[in-house]
Amino acid sequence: MWGVALTAMVVVGITHWLYRWWNPKCNGNLPPGSMGWPLLGETLHFFAPNPTWDTPPFVKERIKRYGSIFRTSLVGRPVVVSTDSDLNYIIFQQEGQLFQSWYPDSFTEVFGRQNVGSLHGYMYKYLKNMVLYLFGPESLKKMLHEVEHVAAINLQKWAAQDSVELKEATANMIFDLTAKKLISYDPEKSSENLRENFVAFIQGLISFPLDIPGTAYHKCLEGRRKAMTMLKSMLEERRAKPREVKSDFFDYLLEELERGDSILTEAIALDLMFVLLFASFETTSLAITVAVKLLKENPRVLQALTEEHESILRNRENTESGLTWKEYKSMTFTFQLINETVRLANIVPGVFRKALKDIKFKDYTIPAGWAVMVCPPAVHLNPDNYKDPLEFNPWRWERMDQKGASKNFMAFGGGMRFCVGTDFTKLQMAVFLHCLVTKYRWRLVGGGEIVRTPGLQFPNGFHVEITEKDDTDTNPRQ
Ligand code: HEM
Ligand SMILES: *[C@@H]1O[C@H](CO)[C@@H](O)[C@H](O)[C@H]1NC(C)=O
Repeated sequence: MWGVALTAMVVVGITHWLYRWWNPKCNGNLPPGSMGWPLLGETLHFFAPNPTWDTPPFVKERIKRYGSIFRTSLVGRPVVVSTDSDLNYIIFQQEGQLFQSWYPDSFTEVFGRQNVGSLHGYMYKYLKNMVLYLFGPESLKKMLHEVEHVAAINLQKWAAQDSVELKEATANMIFDLTAKKLISYDPEKSSENLRENFVAFIQGLISFPLDIPGTAYHKCLEGRRKAMTMLKSMLEERRAKPREVKSDFFDYLLEELERGDSILTEAIALDLMFVLLFASFETTSLAITVAVKLLKENPRVLQALTEEHESILRNRENTESGLTWKEYKSMTFTFQLINETVRLANIVPGVFRKALKDIKFKDYTIPAGWAVMVCPPAVHLNPDNYKDPLEFNPWRWERMDQKGASKNFMAFGGGMRFCVGTDFTKLQMAVFLHCLVTKYRWRLVGGGEIVRTPGLQFPNGFHVEITEKDDTDTNPRQ
């Protein structure tokens, strides 16, 4: 008798729970969509590999079925996906009012609870100013020569080899430069390899969050733990032996930490260091590799780019002198090419927020507490926004009206949380391309395919043979 009652209660409980799973509460109209399997939701579809530049099939199919705004469930959370320009605009502009930066628990786990993305209000502004100081125009002006020097010597080194895996090589190059700026890290002098831990970390970053030995996600957490231990011991070392002249970001953080009234804590400082190191090299090296790939596939673009950079050298009085800030600022076509590259690359496949209150948009209501994912690829590859969206055409930016461009361009995010590394990335890319096209030719010798899971990857690398141009070789050749 009791057994029957209990079974009945369990069945009713489960049925009710399932009913709620498929029909979430909402004071209004939920956007259309499916919540998928209980718990799992549509997570597996979301992570399914996609070997093209195009909008992920997961998103594309649902836009077709439901329109530009739809609901789903990812990694255990109800999510509204927005591919609608107007809603995206509101999401970016209403940061802190209607929406707040939020990333899935798996992200918070790997980036640390105190990472910039999870911070709000006063602390956030404080950190942001610190980072902007480091990667702002004044700092970048001072960095220009070093960036050029580093690109030039690395290219020279790679040209001396049979071939080079460009993604890995540029990641190394940028990591070393950034780590030097931030923490005076010198890989030659360090017993442990800091970057190795980041590599393990990245491979599992946008993967299914299952923390058991063997999974990419597990390795990712492991990599983070090791990297954090290293950063912590470096910070301690520095604290024990302060330096005369304060010159890097560690010095700056320590000075802040030592001030009695600072709101900065060591945990926050270390999380910030981790995020900056990560954000700086992985994204930029992907963007550079994508640019080099697309240049090879589009000889006309390569020619125009080469022309722009050769003309900088031609117009220079002393060809041996390095790039000036003025020359850098004059690279019009290069900046168009960079926009076009990141538009197609969609290095950040989703920007996450949380609804702080019930939000009415058009006929729909997004319930308070739900996650919202802005989907940049769906905007960047929508033919209404960009004609022939899969075509690599830097010239389209000549005709782009500024207002339309900023509304339909979100490779670096938007609103208050706009990427603080944008100018740093553009500098790295432009200077690297300058050094590459003025002096070298290259040929793909292996790999080169892309896949999105949904983070962009080169599963077989991008192996190129780089050779110095000879004097007769003024035009790029296949
Ligand atoms: C191609 C290169 C890059 C791309 C595509 C990119 C993309 C993005 C995007 C889309 C966001 C917004 C995230 C959000 O709204 O939740 C963002 C934020 C951020 N980026 Fe980047 N980024 C790049 C390079 C960099 C670099 C080089 C750095 C470091 C110097 C950096 C540091 C950051 C930080 C700290 C934030 C958080 C800002 C905030 O929450 O206010 N990024 N990035
Ligand atoms: C690149 O895109 C940004 C954002 O829309 C825009 O402000 C900028 O002018 C674009 N750059 C070029 C060279 O078109």
